[in-house]
Amino acid sequence: MSQYRNIPQHIAIIMDGNGRWAKQRGKDRSEGHFAGMMALRQTVIAAAQKGVKYLTVYAFSTENWGRPQAEVDALMELVCKGVEMNAAELCEQGIKVVVIGERSRFSEKVNDAIERITSQTAAGELMTLVLALNYSSRSEITAAVQSLAKRVAAGELQAEDIDEKTITRSLYTASMPDPDLIIRTSGECRLSNFMMWQASYSEFYFTDVLWPDFGEQALQEAIDAYASRDRRFGLVK
Ligand code: FPP
Repeated sequence: MSQYRNIPQHIAIIMDGNGRWAKQRGKDRSEGHFAGMMALRQTVIAAAQKGVKYLTVYAFSTENWGRPQAEVDALMELVCKGVEMNAAELCEQGIKVVVIGERSRFSEKVNDAIERITSQTAAGELMTLVLALNYSSRSEITAAVQSLAKRVAAGELQAEDIDEKTITRSLYTASMPDPDLIIRTSGECRLSNFMMWQASYSEFYFTDVLWPDFGEQALQEAIDAYASRDRRFGLVK
């Protein structure tokens, strides 16, 4: 149980700044991503211990395929390495891993790794770690619209019956609460095609910390900032 008050139930993170972190140290960008994976590991454990129930991380966007092939390959390799290095600890800690995004473009090796981590951790009850892989909000909404249009065409659903709940249930995040807090690292202040539907009432927190330097302390600072916010959801107090 958490000893802290006002813990967001769902935190989503745009992990940014791996490349700049590597550049500052004269290292290859892939080393920045590896350091980013280590920061993710620390952040996941810290979030679970603080009582966060869902942690979503933007690990690979649909736009990231446009990066140099060597970097895309390094990121794909990191998904496999991440599974290998962290599966046992995630199971031990009771952390369930789920993946959102379009998986058909991944190699068999990457899909096998995803399959392994999601099935091995399926019984975890402490926290759900949501990996957004080949994810973008526009492609998620497009896929939802297509599936609803097919149901209408098949006569299973009336167009007038489509409401916000129907759409929410058609997204990859159907079974999750909306993020209470969205964190973006590295000083960039934009959403970059991430959870645009789900972010309607999220609190935003931007920090200059580069993602590989993020961890327990930076997470606590974000949670403290969140705890001081006054969330009104369009209402008056
Ligand atoms: C953005 O930094 C980061 C990414 C595109 C990748 C995020 C990936 C990790 C943190 C690795 C661990 C996760 C998995 C499962 C693969 P950037 O490269 O855009 O940094 P820059 O803006 O400084 O160049």
